Amino acid sequence: RKFGESEIRPHAADWDKRGECPLNVIRAGLEMGLQCLDQPEEYGGAGLGTKPACMVFEELAKSDAGVTCAFSVTGTAAVPVMKYGTEEQKQLCADILFRKGGLGSFCLTEPGSGSDSGASRMTAVRQGDSYVLNGTKCFITNGGYAELYFVIASTDRSKGNKGLSGFLVTRDTPGLTVGKEEDKCGFRTSNTVELVFEDVVVPASCRVGREGDGFKQAMAALDHGRPYIGAVALGVGQRALEEAIAYSKVRSQFGQPICNNQAIRFMLADMEMRLESARCLVYHAAELIDQHLPVTMNGSIAKCCATDAAMQVALDAVQILGGYGYMREYPVEKLMRDAKIFQIFEGTNEIQRVVISGNVIRKN
Ligand code: CAA
Repeated sequence: RKFGESEIRPHAADWDKRGECPLNVIRAGLEMGLQCLDQPEEYGGAGLGTKPACMVFEELAKSDAGVTCAFSVTGTAAVPVMKYGTEEQKQLCADILFRKGGLGSFCLTEPGSGSDSGASRMTAVRQGDSYVLNGTKCFITNGGYAELYFVIASTDRSKGNKGLSGFLVTRDTPGLTVGKEEDKCGFRTSNTVELVFEDVVVPASCRVGREGDGFKQAMAALDHGRPYIGAVALGVGQRALEEAIAYSKVRSQFGQPICNNQAIRFMLADMEMRLESARCLVYHAAELIDQHLPVTMNGSIAKCCATDAAMQVALDAVQILGGYGYMREYPVEKLMRDAKIFQIFEGTNEIQRVVISGNVIRKN
């Protein structure tokens, strides 16, 4: 909270206006270990578990969602390596991301494969003791500044998602270039870029797990990442609610503060209900991860409910602030723009419903 309120919140509106990713502040957070709160201490993490990490992300996101996701997405990129990697790969990941405080990127999405992530077209061709990677990834969070990339590429196009494999690629690998940086309507403090891989040669020892295991590794990372995203969205929604409450107490119309009007009071009640119920779901999903229990369905429920809640609450906050809510001078329009991406990335909320319905039908 102290870091968020002193180092992030006072500057967030300016960074947003300029579309600036504040690398110095992010580096300070990485030095504090915000990207590896849930990682074991023997690998340089804080050993706190997923639930406390979510609590930190919710709190930080009240100051700025884009900065918070630099940390949470680095954590997500590390999941497949720490779960399926060799000891050598885990040490490499821990060294770059946790001990030295580098940023990580999770590289799954391509121009032609978003929701249908199994249709990835990027190729990895085995040549002796190496693989040669060719293709383009897009909408990659942290991509322009990351030191380590977890990349999904096809080692056998004829096998569809069963032909995908996961690779660790370090920043300095020749042939890897950062392409277009996206100019987004919200979430503007987050670095979102295209990555181009042109004859990128990586040693075979950088392949995580077996050939063909990449899709399941990516899904496991998303299982872990979705409660994080839910927690960040909760922070955005909570800040919007707090701004709306504060405004409704000082804004007088018809001779009294507008919070005395039932229309406003009931809106505030609905905002609180949405956030508090989503919070229970996010922290329940985080607990499942900490207890090593299956989380796929609950992670999707948490992500979907929390991000829908944040969006609605941010819209309601703008409504409560009225004309002022629509002005850049007040913080809620930024929260509204920031909230929207959470219904789209880390799996659209329609994809979350695909996951939830699939699980619920299988279970019953
Ligand atoms: N864990 C482990 N294995 C899983 C799994 C999971 N959560 N989900 C599926 N699998 C397995 C299945 O069991 C199946 O294995 P078998 O064939 O051996 O039975 C295999 O994977 C294929 O599963 P499906 O048939 O369900 O796969 P599908 O092609 O229908 O796709 C999907 C499923 C849920 C739609 C998936 O493609 C998906 O989640 N899409 C969304 C992708 C996404 O979230 N992208 C976001 C990018 S990252 C991002 O936004 C990060 C950022 O920067 C913030």
